[in-house]
Amino acid sequence: MSFLTLTSLQKSFGPVQVVKDFNMSIEKGEFISFLGPSGCGKTTVLRMIAGFETPSGGAITIDGKSQQNLRPNQRNIGMVFQAYALFPNMNVAENVAFGLKVAGRPKAEIDARVKEMLGLIKLDHLADRYPYQMSGGQQQRVALARALAPKPQVLLLDEPLSALDAKIRVSLREEIRQIQQQLGITTVFVTHDQEEALSISDRIVVMNAGKADQIGKPADIYNRPATRFVAGFVGTLNLIEAKVVDPAANRISIGDQGVTLREPLGNAKAGDTVSLALRPEAGSIAPDAKGDTALTGEVVSSNFLGSVIRTRMKVGESIISFDMFNSPGLVPPTVGETVTLRFTAGDLLVIRD
Ligand SMILES: Nc1ncnc2c1ncn2[C@@H]1O[C@H](COP(=O)(O)OP(=O)(O)OP(=O)(O)O)[C@@H](O)[C@H]1O
Ligand SMILES: [Mg+2]
Repeated sequence: MSFLTLTSLQKSFGPVQVVKDFNMSIEKGEFISFLGPSGCGKTTVLRMIAGFETPSGGAITIDGKSQQNLRPNQRNIGMVFQAYALFPNMNVAENVAFGLKVAGRPKAEIDARVKEMLGLIKLDHLADRYPYQMSGGQQQRVALARALAPKPQVLLLDEPLSALDAKIRVSLREEIRQIQQQLGITTVFVTHDQEEALSISDRIVVMNAGKADQIGKPADIYNRPATRFVAGFVGTLNLIEAKVVDPAANRISIGDQGVTLREPLGNAKAGDTVSLALRPEAGSIAPDAKGDTALTGEVVSSNFLGSVIRTRMKVGESIISFDMFNSPGLVPPTVGETVTLRFTAGDLLVIRD
């Protein structure tokens, strides 16, 4: 049975509906990421779960219990925000103790729990520091400990890493995931960083304009995007416009080059336009590259990105990017050069909206 359920959740601010019929069932102990662009309603959904916003419609249950008439402090939820929202006039230990103090727990229990939490985030040695004496990453770890101290049923994290620099972000997200698994706490993590979501989640909800466009495991979301929006938002997928040539035989053309798809074209008719997705790592231009399908095009740019070189080539009206792993002897293609990208027909996905 699912632990946290959102059923037909809706929210309007005045005439504007920002969350539309949002449905989600989250298992106990699951780590779910809400991934979506700015303004798609991620924070609003989180705030409704926490009780800071009242839904305009729909229901939220935790462990079978409706949350409808519960105020935020009556819900058993821990929340960490994007900005370090620590109490500036309290030291680390006092910040972590806050929720337990408010709940009126005995001092001995609070002291023990604070010690345990500081151990968990590996900041035992900074218990007496004030927020202004700590780095952003340390402050967010304290915010996490403060949220976890009262043993919430659900942990909500609203872009907790976005104010941190890239390196700390990666190490702290691993740490959050590890702590989450250690405690087995049901967690919803909001981000607009697709790599972050792909790397630490059990499942991802890709949100688009107040709705869940696709819910799935990271590899499914990446490899099998259900909609054009998901394909465009997750990863650096190529979206290619193709013309249907012979639907019965799965024949299409990209520019003037014919391709036979592995997937059926559904009820498309000859002359229809279809959108295809191709991952930049799917193909190769090496002379010995394998694959039953090839596209030839002119190189329009080639960029060194460190571990990979990303090249863009023009095929018909589409620009197709492909990646090559960097190696010392590699000679990247030059602008204007004609190259042939080889891949397996099964790598071309038909995007149906
Ligand atoms: N209190 C409010 N009154 C009116 N409109 C609001 C209010 N809160 C949010 N909105 C609007 O609702 C929409 C969704 O906002 P929300 O904060 O949920 O987006 P988000 O997905 O969290 O975006 P971001 O990634 O930028 O944080 C936005 O268009 C926002 O302007
Ligand atoms: Mg937000």
